[in-house]
Amino acid sequence: MPIDPKLLKDLEKRRNEIMASGDAAKVAKRRGKGLMTARDRVDALFAPGSFQEFGMFAEHQCTNFGMADKKLPADGVVTGVGIMDGRPVASFSQDFLVAGGSLGRVHSQKICDLMDYAQRAGVPIIAFNDSGGARIQEAVLSLSGYGQVFFRNVLLSGVVPQIAIICGPCAGGAAYSPALMDFLIMTKSTANMFICGPEVIKAATGQVTTMEEIGSAAAHASVNGNVHFVANDDMHAIEIARKLVSFLPSNNLVDPPHAPTPEIDLSEVPAFEKIIPDDSKKPFDMLEVIHALVDNADFLQVHQEWAKSIIVGFARIQGLVTGIVANQPMVRSGTLDIDSSDKAARFIRFCNLYNIPIVTLVDVPGFMPGVAQERGGIIRHGAKMLFAYAAATVPKITVILRKAYGGAYLAMCSRDLGADLVFAWPTAEIAVMGAEGAVKIVFRREIKEAENPKKTEAELVKKYRTEFASPYQAAANAQVTDVIRPSRTRAVVAMALRNTLSKRETRPPKKHGNIPL
Ligand code: HXC
Repeated sequence: MPIDPKLLKDLEKRRNEIMASGDAAKVAKRRGKGLMTARDRVDALFAPGSFQEFGMFAEHQCTNFGMADKKLPADGVVTGVGIMDGRPVASFSQDFLVAGGSLGRVHSQKICDLMDYAQRAGVPIIAFNDSGGARIQEAVLSLSGYGQVFFRNVLLSGVVPQIAIICGPCAGGAAYSPALMDFLIMTKSTANMFICGPEVIKAATGQVTTMEEIGSAAAHASVNGNVHFVANDDMHAIEIARKLVSFLPSNNLVDPPHAPTPEIDLSEVPAFEKIIPDDSKKPFDMLEVIHALVDNADFLQVHQEWAKSIIVGFARIQGLVTGIVANQPMVRSGTLDIDSSDKAARFIRFCNLYNIPIVTLVDVPGFMPGVAQERGGIIRHGAKMLFAYAAATVPKITVILRKAYGGAYLAMCSRDLGADLVFAWPTAEIAVMGAEGAVKIVFRREIKEAENPKKTEAELVKKYRTEFASPYQAAANAQVTDVIRPSRTRAVVAMALRNTLSKRETRPPKKHGNIPL
């Protein structure tokens, strides 16, 4: 017997009401302003028709403050799984049109169910955050809901990649769920994120500030590093998320989406031999090196606007997904400071979690000198880099292009920190410190007693650089695997990656290491 058409009509009506966030006029108004709804975002993320929604008919049970009769379609959050570039990905999208996307018990339960599903299915999560925060009427149950989400953020950390898109308000403790995820993408004009807003800050401290200063995408991306990517709008944020996922495995038990070229291209790249300036004090742009090294100059830079003396990001090298960590001599001579150490350490640890090989490109004169750095704890922060590299068991390939001085030489993944293969250009200088400083300390008496101290000092500096700090000295001591022509770098790194991809390394059993946080 055919199904009763009334049942079908009723189903259709119920679905349509929920799909319209309970108020079609509000949806039209929002779209009229050029803004996407929660469902528009999910639809744009996934292949057409591929989204399978979970819990569309969920309803809150709250009776406080006149909530008993209040309909909140899907309880203000769209959750489900869809296909993105051929791969399943879980997503939740908070619906600002339903009680300001606020989080109550059922809303949080839906997010938690999705996270549990993502863990079981081994798929990444992309979360659209657009919410007024804890649903005030649901009191402690809202707080508890956040707690359950945070707990799962931590449970899933290192199991499936978690990406947050901040595309509306993200206030108070709500900001901690994105902060517990792997990557945050924030839209420029429609989003803000803060623990205490300008009014609260003024009331509590008397300080006058603006949302732009404390909660904007610009502040988070360039001042404090909370956010990894800034997007022009929602569609751009989705593009960034899609690009990011294209480099990541679905979970920690599978390999990243490598697409090795059938043959390794051994051709030389002459441009590498024109990069290092004659004067070793002059900077060069490490991005030029990275673009020439990776496939199609296609490099997804992470934290592009923050701690710019170090560059981190994803690329493919002859098809193999690779995490790149590189000093940027154009910014503060490429020194490692508090923020750049934090930035690199976090990225290295992410690569290690998801089996992504790391290529490190070195031109580092040392850790950043200064009172603020010492008082700010450069020892603790710099130690994070040492810890992260030493703890990483993924393939680690290092190329020393020019300076590699002191503790920073070690911190940029030297052989002793566990690099599998270290290559050096003939321009490399590997030493305890720069030649000028070293000569002043070691040959103080010779310089003082020389007939022509200036000439003697210059000769000693040259001797130090060519003999003691030379890459051949390091190669003679097995700290460098090979000294290579710069033009061969792409071929050499590609071969090194292929040759170490099957690497297996076990460590003594322990609960976890104690990274200096
Ligand atoms: C319940 C909320 C809500 C909330 C917004 N709404 N936030 N309902 N709980 N937290 C509702 C509004 O009542 C309104 O309902 C609708 O959402 C749209 O909100 P508007 O204020 O009209 O929108 P707008 O002017 O754009 O302002 C957006 C806003 C503002 C800036 C987010 O709503 C706001 O300040 N909300 C409160 C934010 C807040 O203090 N949240 C608690 C943060 S602390 P109607 O029915 O009129 O359409 C927190 C702790 C988490 O979250 C701790 C976790 C550990």
